[in-house]
Amino acid sequence: MGYMIGIDVGTSGVKTIVINKQGDIMAEATAKYPLYHPKAGWAEQDPEDWWQATLASLQEVSHALGGQVARVKSIGLSGQMHGSVFLDKTGQVLRPAILWCDVRTASQCRYIHEQVGRKELIYHTSNPALEGFTAPKIVWLQQNEPEIYEKVDKVLLPKDYVRYRLTGEIYTEVSDAAGTLLFDVTRRRWSQAVLDALGISSDILPPWRESTDICGQLRHEVAEQTGLPNGIPVAGGGADNACGATGAGIVNPGRVLSSIGSSGVILVHTDKPQTDPKGQVHTFNHAIPHKWYVMGVIMAAGLSLKWFRDNFGQHERQMEDFTGTDAYVFLDQQATATPPGAEGLVFLPYMNGERTPHADANARGVFFGLSPIHTRGHMIRAIMEGVVYALRDSVEIIRGMGIPVSQVRAIGGGAKSPLWRQLQANIMQLEVATLNVDEGPALGAALLGGVAAGIYESVEVAAESVVRIVHTTEPNQDLISRYDDYYQLYRSLYPALQERFQAAAKLQA
Ligand code: XUL
Repeated sequence: MGYMIGIDVGTSGVKTIVINKQGDIMAEATAKYPLYHPKAGWAEQDPEDWWQATLASLQEVSHALGGQVARVKSIGLSGQMHGSVFLDKTGQVLRPAILWCDVRTASQCRYIHEQVGRKELIYHTSNPALEGFTAPKIVWLQQNEPEIYEKVDKVLLPKDYVRYRLTGEIYTEVSDAAGTLLFDVTRRRWSQAVLDALGISSDILPPWRESTDICGQLRHEVAEQTGLPNGIPVAGGGADNACGATGAGIVNPGRVLSSIGSSGVILVHTDKPQTDPKGQVHTFNHAIPHKWYVMGVIMAAGLSLKWFRDNFGQHERQMEDFTGTDAYVFLDQQATATPPGAEGLVFLPYMNGERTPHADANARGVFFGLSPIHTRGHMIRAIMEGVVYALRDSVEIIRGMGIPVSQVRAIGGGAKSPLWRQLQANIMQLEVATLNVDEGPALGAALLGGVAAGIYESVEVAAESVVRIVHTTEPNQDLISRYDDYYQLYRSLYPALQERFQAAAKLQA
């Protein structure tokens, strides 16, 4: 039976897994690398670090497979979206890659909206300009480092740079092209209109393929270095969100991915391109040919609770050291013992600014309604509820676009907490399912490689072969209307504070 490798080039490290056709993990390895912040708001990485980490993880899984390594039939790639790798004519990296979480490009986003027109940009690319996306980074290079821009021969996305090192081939695929803001997501082609308006030559863009196409073979030299079979196909693969969705079975209408990791994601599959005219949620091409997804991203989901644990959870961390039980379990217990709605305490999780729905880098976290009755348990519960109110904002926009939503599939740290699962069910008013797998984007990437190599006949078949629901949580009917009222209160707070956030940002500057 054939094995498939999935590689996810993430923000903190590379995760590589090897699966068989049923999705059993035959080997896995991770390798970390640094994230550089040379200035406030900047976030960069060295593409060479991605490559070295990829090589190390491939060597580790190959070693773990031993004699079974000959069974490996394909490689699929996934990666952090939007990052820009600038290459010269000889394929050398010209400067550190600028990442999705880099917010230096606020003025470039305004410039893009002026040059193209915000409405027109949404028409051409299905999305407005956001700091994280790739086109603002290219414009930033044009405007701030023209001597480097002149030398740019190609701009690659992170996983596509790793493909280049694995195979020698320069390609991207449709789901990562979608996040550049230079791709016409609806009509599936690079957008000449946007390229012209921004004075960017289409020559610097890589050719794009389907996520399930073969985009090169493993180079002999890399096969020797890793012990993997020479010449195995490397599939197009996909953006981390497309691959994460694939690996959670979000391959049919109605299914919604709810991921509470460091950031939070709500993602729903669509059969046809559906764009939010206000640009509050993103519309991107899925890793399934001729399918799309709509996604909302919140910047500080698990991160908000982690902030609480790190700063106020010394006791829970000591308990973790003492008992071996995760500190989050103790936080969860205190929140569970607190009444729904945290007795009037509401948390806005905008600690890192917010993307969906506010697109406001200056928004900040807020505890609203503190009184002497409130305890640590209330604060923990308010954080967990606030994160889910923020996710519900995306669900509401998606419902408002007429997209069916029938079942939430919860992944990430938020899926491990029974309370967070119940809160998702109560606040979103949907059934919440947990899955047998939580391997993240690497699993989706491996499945795409399997489709490219002919192991599965389609992405849908691949996902259905490995993903199963193991548990469901139903909304508690008695709490739905109370949570609805709290959600309305939550929603009213950002507009009331919006100007104050800008004033506070000015004060700090
Ligand atoms: C999506 C986005 C992030 C990155 C992180 O638009 O910016 O989810 O893909 O890996």
